[in-house]
Amino acid sequence: MPTVTPVRMTNVSDIKKLSASEAFKGIFVVNGLLKKTDKNGRPYWEMTVSDQRGSLNAKVWSDAGWWDRSTPDLESKPDMLTESQINSLKGKVVGITGKVADFRGQLQYNFNAITLMNQEKYPPAQYVAHSEIPLPVLKERLESMIDSCRPEIRDFLKSVFDGETGRAFCSAPAAVSNHHAYAHGLLEHSLAVTDSAKAMADTYRDIYHSLDTDVVVAGALLHDIGKIYAYSISPIPEITLPGAVLDHIALGYAAFDRLACEANLTSDLKLQIGHILLSHHGQKEFGSPVLPATLEALIVSAADELDFRLFCWKDAVKDLLPGQNISAFHFAAQRRFWRSAAQNGRDEESE
Ligand SMILES: [Fe+2]
Ligand SMILES: [Fe+2]
Repeated sequence: MPTVTPVRMTNVSDIKKLSASEAFKGIFVVNGLLKKTDKNGRPYWEMTVSDQRGSLNAKVWSDAGWWDRSTPDLESKPDMLTESQINSLKGKVVGITGKVADFRGQLQYNFNAITLMNQEKYPPAQYVAHSEIPLPVLKERLESMIDSCRPEIRDFLKSVFDGETGRAFCSAPAAVSNHHAYAHGLLEHSLAVTDSAKAMADTYRDIYHSLDTDVVVAGALLHDIGKIYAYSISPIPEITLPGAVLDHIALGYAAFDRLACEANLTSDLKLQIGHILLSHHGQKEFGSPVLPATLEALIVSAADELDFRLFCWKDAVKDLLPGQNISAFHFAAQRRFWRSAAQNGRDEESE
């Protein structure tokens, strides 16, 4: 009799390490769905699912199986998936069984059966990625960064971050893809940019004596504030209508202008910090209406780009197999990344 290897529950990261014809199963949240038609005119779906380890794109063919376990008293019996069932899955937690296939030399992931889980027992928020740094740690860092500023800037930042804006800022993602696209991602990214920008300001102040570190800190903390209006997270990161048609730089400047007026920020500080918000993407073709024109804006823009590129490196190399050191082409960063043999060794030691 042939031996049957039981399929273990697995996560997204481990599925990406499987070879063609290997089976997998796991519990994930559905991030996105796209209906397509195969060469025989039958519908199929491209489904993106995620867990805390990452996201996976897979195909769901029209002959996929379906189980409904959304309520405990439902008699659980297998069925064929229907279009209305699959269309209701965005943001829901599902159990998946699937198989890896080789399609023209590329690995493809097929979901053969989908189980709609009981959403109370399996809350979607638990299956959505969030920052690896615990939220209380991030909040403490935010507080001490604000406290490091001189009173007029500290009080303004407190007026922003203590209220509803601050609560939204702490839970928002920094994007829907590309970088920090998870709960608390905006806070994690903004703090990394601020730490890095503050270190640069402290270094360069010996040469550029007029450099204002507190303006750097305020600009760095607030540079992406518009993302709280541009993205929602319920439970998966999605772009809002204002985000799609106005974008976070315009939304952020409008919010900053209102908050600065409410807090009676001086016109000089309003201009300096507002300039950082508008110029932080560094180039007009990247969405900034003006280029960084001050020492402080140059520093924040450089720190923002660095944090984005570093995240792209981590994102690109995380799924490399042992012995691999060049990543797949990373579209957002427009390059392949390299994890050297020495870094492989250090990563293994730290796990
Ligand atoms: Fe930005
Ligand atoms: Fe940013």
